[in-house]
Amino acid sequence: MIKKCLFPAAGYGTRFLPATKATPKEMLPILTKPLIQYGVEEALLAGISTMAIVTGRGKRAIEDHFDISYELEHQIKGGSKECLLDEIRALIEQCTFSYTRQIEMKGLGHAILTGETLIGREPFAVVLADDLCHNEEMGVLEQMIEVYEKYQCSVVAIEEIPLDQTHKYGVIAGKLVDGTDDTYRVKDMVEKPDPKDAPSNLAIIGRYILTPDIFDILKNTPAGKGGEIQITDALLEQAKQGNVIAYKFKGKRFDCGSVDGFVEATNWFYRKSK
Ligand code: UTP
Repeated sequence: MIKKCLFPAAGYGTRFLPATKATPKEMLPILTKPLIQYGVEEALLAGISTMAIVTGRGKRAIEDHFDISYELEHQIKGGSKECLLDEIRALIEQCTFSYTRQIEMKGLGHAILTGETLIGREPFAVVLADDLCHNEEMGVLEQMIEVYEKYQCSVVAIEEIPLDQTHKYGVIAGKLVDGTDDTYRVKDMVEKPDPKDAPSNLAIIGRYILTPDIFDILKNTPAGKGGEIQITDALLEQAKQGNVIAYKFKGKRFDCGSVDGFVEATNWFYRKSK
């Protein structure tokens, strides 16, 4: 059973400056809902109700968002706008939220290691809220939990990307598991390779199921690409033991960490809402 979901949300979000100077990137809205709320909803749909969030300086708005605002509630009680708080109220009722701070931004791997104190020794999900995923029938995290239940090892979500984009992603090399066309046993993985060095065009996106030994590996993982502690490097250690599955998820993904992806998501959700 996967009971906890970790949200690394300490990054600076420099691609969205100046908007992210005093506002966390994860609080930028697609229509009226902040990115991180979509992520929490996806986790809840997958049966997870314990949310563990790694924050940093200037990220207090995330904590306030997943809390009651008594003044506001009092103001709009009984009015026509009260229903606009229904979804977030339901989340607050159904989930627990806990927080820890990453003191220095030393990379995604380091942010995940910082979350150990909230996760403990159990397998857990990871959602990067700036990768916004949508699938009508079954959420991406729910699909991944099914894969985890079958293979009982770490699972990364992957997507086919154009080869000239490999420098933005962790890229895997793997072998299709017998009888499937969407599930790979990972043999190699490289963080942000040049297209000429990329082992494939299968890129890791912001959804993971990780087994807790990842924390021990991360403790011994030196800084890699960009001087940051990379989760890809730690996962490669698991992959060498045959313990990482890459799963080509069903659904759409928007890279809301980039302005283009953010606008694309906004347009898509707006059309869908009409
Ligand atoms: P990104 O690579 O998108 O970095 O991090 P960023 O800082 O958020 O954004 P840019 O590139 O400066 O615009 C991927 C995910 O990892 C988290 C981020 O919050 C984001 O969800 N992260 C990254 C951390 O929590 N801590 C870090 O030290 C680095």
